[in-house]
Amino acid sequence: MKSFENYSLLAHNTFGIDAKCRRFVEYSTKEEAAELACSLDYSDSPLLIIGGGSNLLLTGDYPGTVLHSGICFIEQVDDERIRCGSGFVWDDFVAHCVNINLYGAENLSLIPGEVGASAVQNIGAYGTEAKDIIEEVEAVEIGTGKTVVFSAAECQYSYRSSRFKTEWRDKYLIVAVTFRLTRTFQPKLDYGNIRAALKERGISCPTAQQLRQTIIDIRREKLPDPKQIGNAGSFFMNPVVSREKYDQLAARFKNMPHYTIDAHREKIPAGWMIEQLGWKGKQLGRAGVYSKQALVLVNHGGATGREVLNLCKTIQEDVRCAFGIEILPEVNIK
Ligand code: EPU
Repeated sequence: MKSFENYSLLAHNTFGIDAKCRRFVEYSTKEEAAELACSLDYSDSPLLIIGGGSNLLLTGDYPGTVLHSGICFIEQVDDERIRCGSGFVWDDFVAHCVNINLYGAENLSLIPGEVGASAVQNIGAYGTEAKDIIEEVEAVEIGTGKTVVFSAAECQYSYRSSRFKTEWRDKYLIVAVTFRLTRTFQPKLDYGNIRAALKERGISCPTAQQLRQTIIDIRREKLPDPKQIGNAGSFFMNPVVSREKYDQLAARFKNMPHYTIDAHREKIPAGWMIEQLGWKGKQLGRAGVYSKQALVLVNHGGATGREVLNLCKTIQEDVRCAFGIEILPEVNIK
């Protein structure tokens, strides 16, 4: 187990914020996680469990203990199931599945972060969410070190959320996730511009490798590489509104994109609203809105977490005034 005091989190958050935590601990086996789970006490409070730090905004030094899984194994459970340590890099898992002809994860290619966080936050892209392939989540309980195994149903997955983000927050350290994939390739091509991007490449029936590569290309084109420009992917969640609210807005904004959730609810892309308000490519201090995707806030270099938070609040307020909609951060703000 690695433990450091007064530790810089610069390498642990993709926003590139230089903040320190009082203590940082990394466990690399389930046994270490259990030992740590039993040894944490009031002096570690408040706890912060992080993955790759790709969904995190630090607004100052962190006064408690930051915990990180370095459990990095990957193993085949049976023909269609893969079990992965929580610290395993998400995209390495996707690449592995595609390479061994196991399908279901390819639309989630190149999402930054680690396997444990995928099960907390139900990462999603291009019509697929982690919950579609998660079978069970193994964790140790903080306080007792007891191992628990949750089925996907018990985790109560919803859009970018799970019980690990709500009632189970800070109660468990996730140690491994088992995914159920399939040998039958059923490409999901209906989201956004996937079909158009395949057509441009002259592909009508993609292989899983071709679909993965196309998704990687789309993401690289639209989303900034955190190694070059600090960011945490989509900063806000796309709000879900009632049909009544949607009808009012649709009458005012004829070209407003939307996704029907069910007979009563519609999801509206926050990126579209932010762009309508002229924020795309704009800066406030050293924080800004990415020029190619308005849902992504960026650190133009040396921004503090407070500067990014200030931009977040200003945009939220503008969206509230113009559209009467509350947009909520997807990013974990600490
Ligand atoms: N749009 C704009 N302007 C923008 C951005 C988007 O008008 O600046 C419009 C697009 O034209 C499109 C709609 O909004 O009609 C949706 O845009 P896009 O497909 O780019 O997706 P998104 O809603 O902005 C979501 C996820 C992404 C995921 C993509 C693709 C959330 C919060 N974000 O973004 O996830 O990659 O769909 O599936 O749900 C992430 O969570 O970090 C993330 C990147």
